Amino acid sequence: MSFAALLLVDIWLTGGDGSGDNSLPVKTKLRLDCSWFITLQLISRIPELGIKKPFTEVIRANIGDAQAMGQQPITFLRQVMALCTYPNLLDSPSFPEDAKKRARRLLQACGGNSLGSYSASQGVNCIREDVAAYITRRDGGVPADPDNIYLTTGASDGISTILKILVSGGGKSRTGVMIPIPQYPLYSAVISELDAIQVNYYLDEENCWALNVNELRRAVQEAKDHCDPKVLCIINPGNPTGQVQSRKCIEDVIHFAWEEKLFLMADEVYQDNVYSPDCKFHSFKKVLYEMGPEYSSNVELASFHSTSKGYMGECGYRGGYMEVINLHPEIKGQLVKLLSVRLCPPVSGQAAMDIVVNPPVPGEESFELFHREKESVLGNLAKKAKLTEDLFNQVPGIHCNPLQGAMYAFPRIFIPSKAVEAAQAHKMAPDMFYCMKLLEETGICVVPGSGFGQREGTYHFRMTILPPVEKLKTVLQKVKDFHIKFLEKYA
Ligand SMILES: Cc1ncc(COP(=O)(O)O)c(C=O)c1O
Repeated sequence: MSFAALLLVDIWLTGGDGSGDNSLPVKTKLRLDCSWFITLQLISRIPELGIKKPFTEVIRANIGDAQAMGQQPITFLRQVMALCTYPNLLDSPSFPEDAKKRARRLLQACGGNSLGSYSASQGVNCIREDVAAYITRRDGGVPADPDNIYLTTGASDGISTILKILVSGGGKSRTGVMIPIPQYPLYSAVISELDAIQVNYYLDEENCWALNVNELRRAVQEAKDHCDPKVLCIINPGNPTGQVQSRKCIEDVIHFAWEEKLFLMADEVYQDNVYSPDCKFHSFKKVLYEMGPEYSSNVELASFHSTSKGYMGECGYRGGYMEVINLHPEIKGQLVKLLSVRLCPPVSGQAAMDIVVNPPVPGEESFELFHREKESVLGNLAKKAKLTEDLFNQVPGIHCNPLQGAMYAFPRIFIPSKAVEAAQAHKMAPDMFYCMKLLEETGICVVPGSGFGQREGTYHFRMTILPPVEKLKTVLQKVKDFHIKFLEKYA
């Protein structure tokens, strides 16, 4: 198959313009959300198909998969996982005592002392206790109840499960789910799978992608004409936009949710990924409690965390948890019932989550190495965040907000009208056209902004900052050269 034919297959798969047309059937829409992944799969086959391209490797800057980009696993986490997986190693002198202690405790909590057995649907008890203790420490003493903790198959599973129990009604009373635009496409995919109504609120690009409560008010008022807005999803730190919300903004959002009686979903998978010195992660749970009992006893909140991001990047273990508060006891019963249909999340993922919330502490044998490895990953990400922002902002026709957190840049790109016409001729969204050209000419795979949603007439792409520093410098230089050539070609 020729390269052009491969591209044609992709254009077909992306439905022509990658716009997520609402008239399409659900299955097709779900496929649209995966379009960049399919593109990558096709492009990855170029070497085996013998197609000559002006690059020697495809650089996968399209997906937040840290270890796939060369990030080394945290030693302590892998030691405990190795011991849990193959307990004969507990006799080996090669493993530190604190790792053995964690592994023994986890194994004792598993049926038959084995990771290979099912756990309770809500997750292994002692891991839920560790998660609750972690949340209490993180939130400066705000209590967390293990009974409100549910271990999940990555954060994705928790997010889709909560949406499943919240969506109901028909016609104008169908549940509306408010999501940020740009969004992480899991949300639009689950909303369309559940036939819920997507209610967009736009983040403020001119103001470092901040969330403005007036915009939430606009979105909810307009949505009330055609659906019943019940859920407000927040991603903090943001993906793809990288902003970290201020405490004041979180308070405003909670007040708004309280006023409108909305269920809050706080996606906090990037809680360890904050780089700007003037930004700090504030959990919704903590701020909610600090706002007093009127809020803390009434606002329903589910917050999500994961083993996939942070400094650990253990995406493949599929570990995660959610903390759900103020849920009506009957709904809680329904939630547990729903979770029990899938028996339990992978027990290995639960164990990985335990190590994230219960890492070595000062005085323990593994602390020093753990601390060094963690700081090295986060320090490198901070360096790469700044490098990326600075370089993009030197390129005419690219503007990039500061990457305050998470692991992506989402620069705005100027696409000349001649390129927009060329894209239309290829039945592609202009930023899809741009990203395909970038891929064909440089081997760099990024995701068009239209995959996340963006204000009409604006164009973006999302690129991860996960390649190692030297490789990232090369990538940025190549994007710069490509962009300048692109502007010249379509001037
Ligand atoms: C904002 C956000 N939420 C949820 C997820 C899903 O994470 P997990 O791998 O834990 O399912 C991701 C993954 O990239 C994400 O960026």
